Amino acid sequence: MNELTVNGKSVVVDVALDMPLLWFLRDTLGLTGTKYGCGIGQCGSCSVLIDGQSMRSCALSIAAVLNKSVTTIEGVAESSSPVKAVAENVQAVWKEESVPQCGYCQPGQIITATALLSSFPDASGEQIDDAMSGNLCRCGTYPRIKKGIQQVQEVLRRG
Ligand code: FES
Ligand code: FES
Repeated sequence: MNELTVNGKSVVVDVALDMPLLWFLRDTLGLTGTKYGCGIGQCGSCSVLIDGQSMRSCALSIAAVLNKSVTTIEGVAESSSPVKAVAENVQAVWKEESVPQCGYCQPGQIITATALLSSFPDASGEQIDDAMSGNLCRCGTYPRIKKGIQQVQEVLRRG
């Protein structure tokens, strides 16, 4: 029986193993917070955490993530999430600072920002730019995203 862990719960996979993970999350599990943008690994809107790393779910087959831990925007701040504390701060700052505009890209932005801050809480401005460069925003909220990440860093430093 093929299984993977999604948001801390074990999920049985009963679809073709070459199905992209994004399709499985949205169409099979109903987790529609992860967005379809380009479908070819170019925009980052479908980003999810795979064992804590931000990866593009449109470009990963189910076979590639079997027995791995997948965390989507729905579960990133839940108690079962290993990055809960960081994700909660990211989401709070995103709200306080009104980071999103249309919001479409923001689940992917939040996932990638959370992965970055979980591994490198003191990331420099340049490292932030590098880490976030694969997440495109058609509304151009990049300055607010960067400011938000730096604000989360301040919160994390204060403990
Ligand atoms: S939808 Fe996956 S990278 Fe664009
Ligand atoms: S907020 Fe609209 S696409 Fe980024």
